[in-house]
Amino acid sequence: MPFRWNPELRPEDITPEELFRQRRRFMKSAALVGVGAVLGMESLEAAETSAPLGEVRSGVVTLNEKQTPFADASGYCNFYELGTGKEDPSRQADRLVTKPWSVLIDGEVGRPGRISLEELIKPHPLEERVYRMRCVEAWSMVIPWVGFSLGALLQRFEPGPKAQYVSFETILDPERLPGQKRDILEWPYREGLRLDEAMHPLTMLAVGMYGRVLPNQNGAPLRLVVPWKYGFKSIKSIVRITLTEQQPVTSWNAHAPGEYGFYANVNPAVSHPRWDQSRERRIGEFLRRETLPFNGYGEQVAGLYTGMDLTRFF
Ligand code: MTE
Repeated sequence: MPFRWNPELRPEDITPEELFRQRRRFMKSAALVGVGAVLGMESLEAAETSAPLGEVRSGVVTLNEKQTPFADASGYCNFYELGTGKEDPSRQADRLVTKPWSVLIDGEVGRPGRISLEELIKPHPLEERVYRMRCVEAWSMVIPWVGFSLGALLQRFEPGPKAQYVSFETILDPERLPGQKRDILEWPYREGLRLDEAMHPLTMLAVGMYGRVLPNQNGAPLRLVVPWKYGFKSIKSIVRITLTEQQPVTSWNAHAPGEYGFYANVNPAVSHPRWDQSRERRIGEFLRRETLPFNGYGEQVAGLYTGMDLTRFF
């Protein structure tokens, strides 16, 4: 479907986010005009949402900021396995098969093993937490995640005395996930945290958002959420969690170590080599806002980094 430019706007006046939003609005209104008589607005919205989740405890951590609309959070995504365009992941979401799903938990733990997703989630009451998320590309969203603390899960597997880091891996399935046939990153996507970061109560494993099952494009059935770090740390569709003694290799750090550090704490004082990191555009807003150190979670997490030079360990 062609995108109609507003003739008063020059390409350089418009950011990719605005372009995306305008195109969505245009497509939506075109769809409504075209098939409105059959579908109507309600069923169009319904088609965009996933199944409701079971019982969810409400906000242990919450935020008095306007939430990003579900359509934006599930339509403007980064998930390179499903394509590098922001709309590719939602368009190609069906390629990710999430049933059955299991996670291997191994490395420096007392009780390693493979566990089905259902078994893994069962003992953890689901709770909703509304977090600010800040992407390295300088846009941000406010998303109500549903999940539980990663720390509670790790405790069950009894981290051993040598465990210092936690490494995560996304599913590897190049036959179904087209991005994994391309030489963009080394697959599978990998991420890592220091053990104390992983055990921090703000760090969560999400299985849903907006009270509903996580859409595939957002990392179903299980993804990490670390709200004080840039979005690339929040690895999607996790199949393996390994406790390690050494700092693990992570995809973006291996790909471009000068641009993406292991820590990746949101830090307005450290610029990305190709762009400024001091301001961000909240999706849905026009004016940029100041980026907060640790994405606004400094009071809770700054203590993890006491004595560290965060310009060196970026
Ligand atoms: N996880 C995997 N497996 N593959 C990816 O490409 N992209 C990361 C992160 N997790 C990515 C991933 C990046 S760069 C961001 S900003 C967030 O996912 C985006 O999450 P969202 O699309 O749910 O907003």
